[in-house]
Amino acid sequence: MKEELIKLASEHGTPLFIIDHAKIRENFRIFKKNLPNVQAYYAVKANSNQEIIKTLFGAGASFDVASYNEFIQIYEQIKSFKKAEKDFFIWDKIIFSNTIKDRPTLKKIKKYKPLVTYDNAEEVDKIKENCETAGLVLRLKVPDTGSQVELSSKFGAEPADAAGLIKKVFDCGLAVEGLSFHVGSQCTNFDNYAGALQITSEIFNEARKKGYELKIVDIGGGFPAAYDSAVPRFEQLAEVIESEIARLFPDDIEIIAEPGRFMVATAATLVSEIIGKATRNGKIFYHINDGVYHTFSGIVYDHWIPNFHPFRSGKQQVCAVVGPTCDSFDKISLSEQLPANLRLGDLLYTVNIGAYSIASSTKFNGFEGAKVLHVNN
Ligand SMILES: Cc1ncc(COP(=O)(O)O)c(C=O)c1O
Repeated sequence: MKEELIKLASEHGTPLFIIDHAKIRENFRIFKKNLPNVQAYYAVKANSNQEIIKTLFGAGASFDVASYNEFIQIYEQIKSFKKAEKDFFIWDKIIFSNTIKDRPTLKKIKKYKPLVTYDNAEEVDKIKENCETAGLVLRLKVPDTGSQVELSSKFGAEPADAAGLIKKVFDCGLAVEGLSFHVGSQCTNFDNYAGALQITSEIFNEARKKGYELKIVDIGGGFPAAYDSAVPRFEQLAEVIESEIARLFPDDIEIIAEPGRFMVATAATLVSEIIGKATRNGKIFYHINDGVYHTFSGIVYDHWIPNFHPFRSGKQQVCAVVGPTCDSFDKISLSEQLPANLRLGDLLYTVNIGAYSIASSTKFNGFEGAKVLHVNN
């Protein structure tokens, strides 16, 4: 692997973000194998690179979009479809999972009969007024304890408000297609899923008893990427999900999920280059040509813990690795075990950096960010 990375870096330059599409297809396969009854909607936000969308589209994925622009990225793949096929794809394979959508977005997607989520009464009124063709999915607030990124502090209706929010939709002539939740991203506490399914089933079964024909159970994202051996295995989580769903819900439901990180995190490697070396307060600082405003943005937005691997060996010590911008905030890590003898021009590589990395990269200080290279696509 190391030789290949050096070869690619010398051919294409650094920083180089290498996306391995074979790994994306494998992740999708693993997801489907372990959760065969779950329709996987790739959460485009994790990495919206068009080639990734193309690969997952080819593999048979559905898509979770957060905005009109993400929707258009999916639309690119189906624009040559006949109208009926296109309409079916949009209804069956795309969900607008952002519970808050502005009016212009709703107006633009009205002609497509979209499936959209909501978690409050104002949103229902807004959808009724601007996009009455929509089918609705109520997002519930569920436990997200211990997840790397918690989401329940910003999204989800309180379970106690759910019945009223379902009734409101039907009363105004729209339909609730189902319920959704998100247990927080990189969820390694599987009790969150069990708890969320329990809460969801109570609301789902109660709504059906009242005659509301809910069909969909959307179990969101959060499926943990195998960053290291401490991360519990996905197969184990899949067993929990399968058995809880069988125990709690009727047989005729449609189960969908919105995996983002799981599909792409392990599918990308970054090669960066040491462009400066200084000793500050007795510690070696390696200045590299990528940083927290760029591919390492996940450190800020995703609570991501970086990793660095050298190509040259040497006696290791605790070093800092910092980004190229003039901002002192641009410190990637202050404690990396790295050889002290690395030189300017030496390369480092970072694995498992496919999710929430280039997706939130900026051009701060005029640095373009990493060049993206696709392999096995
Ligand atoms: C609504 C929604 N669905 C899916 C995802 C993807 O989550 P993950 O990458 O943890 O699978 C997110 C992430 O923020 C989200 O907000």
